[in-house]
Amino acid sequence: MRILAIETSCDETGIAVLENSSEHTVTILGNALASQVELHAKYGGVFPALAKRAHAEKITLLIQEALDQAELLEAGEKAEEGVENTLSFLNEKESMLKEHISPFLTYYKKPALDYIAVTVGPGLEPALWVGVNTAKALSKIWNIPVIPINHMEGHVVTAAFQKINESSFVLSPLDAPLLSLLVSGGHTELVLSEKLGSYKKIGQTRDDAVGEAFDKVARLLGLPYPGGPAVSKLAKEWREGEESRLFELPRPMLHSGNYDFSFSGIKTAVLYTTRDLGHEMTDREKRALAGEFENAAIEVLVKKTLDAVDEYAVQTIIVGGGVAGNTYLRAELNEKATKKYPEIRVLFPEQWLATDNAVMIGMAAMLQVFSGEIKTSALQDLKADGNLSL
Ligand code: KG4
Ligand code: ZN
Repeated sequence: MRILAIETSCDETGIAVLENSSEHTVTILGNALASQVELHAKYGGVFPALAKRAHAEKITLLIQEALDQAELLEAGEKAEEGVENTLSFLNEKESMLKEHISPFLTYYKKPALDYIAVTVGPGLEPALWVGVNTAKALSKIWNIPVIPINHMEGHVVTAAFQKINESSFVLSPLDAPLLSLLVSGGHTELVLSEKLGSYKKIGQTRDDAVGEAFDKVARLLGLPYPGGPAVSKLAKEWREGEESRLFELPRPMLHSGNYDFSFSGIKTAVLYTTRDLGHEMTDREKRALAGEFENAAIEVLVKKTLDAVDEYAVQTIIVGGGVAGNTYLRAELNEKATKKYPEIRVLFPEQWLATDNAVMIGMAAMLQVFSGEIKTSALQDLKADGNLSL
């Protein structure tokens, strides 16, 4: 079984080709990713209209690249007019996508693929639509069914797959209940599951997502977008330098007695701290503030996760989303969870799969293949939904 996966929910355009080589095992045959980080860096955040344009400009080349890596690309010219007619639905809203993808689909033969998996939400709707319309175009021309995928499920499933080698991963049975801590630029959620594929949200952020807070704090410290890795690097220097705690930030909702989060308060406290200094922040102060911020944010995430482990007798913790790449979160959660619950498993994605990519969308689709319940969608029902929930 071979799947072509498409991801365009935010500022990464991703295409991957996955194969289930043997039972519960996937091999990545092709993986192409284009980041828009530089495009958005000067604004300190992602602009939906710019993101859409960049996805539409790059996606065809990435499809070609991923299929080429997978050795599935074969020339074989089709009638140009037939392709043009089939893709006429792209004329108005996706003219740039059509301009690039029409010649590609005219020139190359249908590759040996069984399904197309595409992120339909949550995310930036204009960006999501590029992926959805690309999936429709490929599906119409190649006559391959489409599996719609929730981006957040992609993050969960990716962490659950265990690495065998550089390109192969296995999904071994996990002890339930499972608890997923989903931490990205748009989401901060705790989700409970009896098995992968069924999810119950038990808490979420009431305002900013934790990744968003990292990005905003980075801006206040004069660091580049996306801010997570940059803030974390300074925090690490502060911790390792054994420098003193110059600032004190709040731990919002630490003792709220539920599983909700709030990160806008810490961000505002960082803003006031920088303003009240009355002078340009020194490098030492920047390190201390980054360190205190990371400590505060991670402390709240770890405490709430462990509270939920306790209440629901959780056996497996899964961490997904861009912030799952944070080394301090990885160390703290691993240490605190296994100290208190020696039997528990804590699963993180590989670093290179933590931030957005298409491999994770292909893995979520493979989960359906493994369970024998493949949920394809009729093309007329295939829609982007920016607020899609797990
Ligand atoms: O999952 P993701 O790639 O995109 C969304 O679905 O939002 O997550 C991106 C977010 C950004 O806010 C970025 O600053 C944050 O993840 N991030 C990190 C780290 N790496 C990425 N935050 C903290 N520490 C990191 N190492
Ligand atoms: Zn994401």
